[in-house]
Amino acid sequence: MNVPFIDLKAQYLQVKPEIGRAIKAVLDRQDFILGRDVSFFEQEFAHYVGSRYCVGVNSGTDALYLSLKALGIGPGDEVIVPVFTFIATAFVVTCAGAKPVFVDIDERTFNIDVNKLERAITKRTKAVSPVHLFGQCADMQPLMSLCRRRGLAVVEDACQAHGALYKGAPSGILGATGCFSFYPTKNLGGSGDGGAIVTDNEGLYAKLRMMRDCGRKSKYEHHILGFNSRLDTLQAAVLRVKLRRLNSWNNKRIGCARLYSRLFADIPGVAIPYAAPGSRHVYHIYAIQVDNRDAVVAYLNRMRVGCMVNYPIPLHLQVVYKDLGYKKGDFPVAEKLSRRIISLPMHPCLAKREIEYVVKTVQKALKEA
Ligand SMILES: Cc1ncc(COP(=O)(O)O)c(C=O)c1O
Repeated sequence: MNVPFIDLKAQYLQVKPEIGRAIKAVLDRQDFILGRDVSFFEQEFAHYVGSRYCVGVNSGTDALYLSLKALGIGPGDEVIVPVFTFIATAFVVTCAGAKPVFVDIDERTFNIDVNKLERAITKRTKAVSPVHLFGQCADMQPLMSLCRRRGLAVVEDACQAHGALYKGAPSGILGATGCFSFYPTKNLGGSGDGGAIVTDNEGLYAKLRMMRDCGRKSKYEHHILGFNSRLDTLQAAVLRVKLRRLNSWNNKRIGCARLYSRLFADIPGVAIPYAAPGSRHVYHIYAIQVDNRDAVVAYLNRMRVGCMVNYPIPLHLQVVYKDLGYKKGDFPVAEKLSRRIISLPMHPCLAKREIEYVVKTVQKALKEA
């Protein structure tokens, strides 16, 4: 059996006629730039997340970058980010002219370890950017109270956590801004790049709307420094269709994750993902841990089970960040995880028999690899 890591086509087929109609309507109107689907999507996504405002942008990267810039972060400032995440969380800090400061992760949730956060704060720290990794929210209650006490802004990286809940609170609404990516493989993914920023702060909203559109107040009046980071109308049209399916697709993912975890429970040598009680993990990624990871990955590939390693190199060991002066051993939890982790096939159209095959193949890999 061939089990792909992700099956975008199967998902597309579930909404093909609606997407076709939505795209045709944009083509008929020719309102490609900040057209009516953009403002409808912004309203609908804000409503979905439970925030007052939403600004559609070009990508998750831009959502994070513009948030930092709108908060006035720049040269001389430090922003704390988890050391185990996709690199965009950190490079936006560098691109904003500030310095990323890494903090190790919690070994159960893989999210920023809030107990280690306070030690990383200096007088230059301006913000913290927790990541809701793999679809599970960071421990936001202690994080928010620490940031409030120390006067730090919080920019939530919710790029992998559309629809996740932290103790009832949707991902993205607790920080000054919540940043989402609509990269095609995300739980809510477009037919190309896209992103959004949600916020309850009217001032930030007004600023971000201008920043993503050349800093414009009107067509040729430019009041602040911005650039072109508009969410494309065609993408907004596709996202509006898919947003209506997000809860049911997330529920499918959760069902798949439960089946995986139930089947893996009887298999020694496999650590299954931990879902914190009282929260809703939406399994953008279903990641297990094993000892001889590389051999298991090679075996799975040979058996045509799609798998990935998110992420094989923690940020402090990335070449691009060698000048920050970190070294091997500085973040032991992330380093250990990066040697053990494997992401297994996960998407809303994954069938029971495919999950059973993946689990059996992992079991065989552990014996034979
Ligand atoms: C945690 C995280 N942050 C930021 C991003 C950047 O999003 P985009 O690819 O839309 O720029 C991603 C996307 O992969 C991500 O996973």
